[in-house]
Amino acid sequence: MDLLKWNESLSVENIVIDNQHKGLFDLTNNLILEYKDDINSPLIGETLSSLLRYAKKHFKDEERLLREVKYPKLEEHEKMHIDFIFKIAMFCKDVLNGKSSVVNEMIEYLTDWLINHTSSADLDFKNYINQVA
Ligand SMILES: [Fe+2]
Ligand SMILES: [Fe+2]
Repeated sequence: MDLLKWNESLSVENIVIDNQHKGLFDLTNNLILEYKDDINSPLIGETLSSLLRYAKKHFKDEERLLREVKYPKLEEHEKMHIDFIFKIAMFCKDVLNGKSSVVNEMIEYLTDWLINHTSSADLDFKNYINQVA
């Protein structure tokens, strides 16, 4: 279970969005560290709730930006965000109900999804949000 590292190759050249991606990576790393420290740590549920809130805000901001620039794959992109929120909300419910057996699977899903999404689907809109009006 490696920690996530943001690097310049993931930049969409928008400071707000880049910072939010770094924030999502940081919260995920907190989860990994809490899990490594104590599989049953009560902090995991709290951090996961924070991550869920943070992700919702980020997706809202990102989608607003994509709408403004009339990104052609917006609908498809929104669907990916919705699926992620749904899945994380389910994990969150389980963890808060004390089902610590799902934490390992949750962290794997979270790290895979974040890496894949930021390095592919999000990078795909980089040129659209930076086009000269
Ligand atoms: Fe994003
Ligand atoms: Fe996205």
